[in-house]
Amino acid sequence: MTKLAEQLNLASVSPYDNLEQMYAAARQCTNCDLCKARNNVVLFRGNPEAKLMIIGEGPGQNEDETGLPFVGRAGQLLDKILASAEIDKEKDVYICNVVKCRPPGNRVPTPQEMAQCKGFLEAQIQFIDPKLILLAGSTAMQAILQVKNPISKVRGKWFDQQNGAKVMAIFHPSYLLRNDSREVGSPKWLMWQDIKEVKRQLDVLNGSTT
Ligand code: URA
Repeated sequence: MTKLAEQLNLASVSPYDNLEQMYAAARQCTNCDLCKARNNVVLFRGNPEAKLMIIGEGPGQNEDETGLPFVGRAGQLLDKILASAEIDKEKDVYICNVVKCRPPGNRVPTPQEMAQCKGFLEAQIQFIDPKLILLAGSTAMQAILQVKNPISKVRGKWFDQQNGAKVMAIFHPSYLLRNDSREVGSPKWLMWQDIKEVKRQLDVLNGSTT
């Protein structure tokens, strides 16, 4: 088992030979009831070669309609946040979700639904092999880091992984949409601190700073 898989409580070897094989399997998946109402299985957007992976909770209506994660209001805010830190949404990041089908009414996916979908996320982590992983919101944080603490206490800290990958929880962009203040200490201000730190780490990885 790789250290990253072990520490993230993930299987070390996926049953797929590559991502395309996993995507094909996911598009046919009927492992849970979320398949019944879906229009699209929502797999990823961005660059499979990226060093940065962002994992959200699950698709909403816009994502279900388009087949792409984070394209609704929350996604547009995420793009703005990335752009403000000069993180290129096409080149620098691979974006996906814990569950690949929309939970009805945008409810939180159940533990069973997350468990059924886990193999797809494991394959994404294995094949993308990101150096930095951001967990957007408590659902992704709990699913991956297995911590129950409030996200406000966990966000902004790197969980160092032995193989060089670092994992950080960040606020979900929909939470920021509901909290407009930009004052020092506000959720938006904290997100800005977090994203600047992510950019700093990316620059280190890319050799553009020390
Ligand atoms: N929220 C998420 O967590 N993921 C999406 O893809 C869209 C909204």
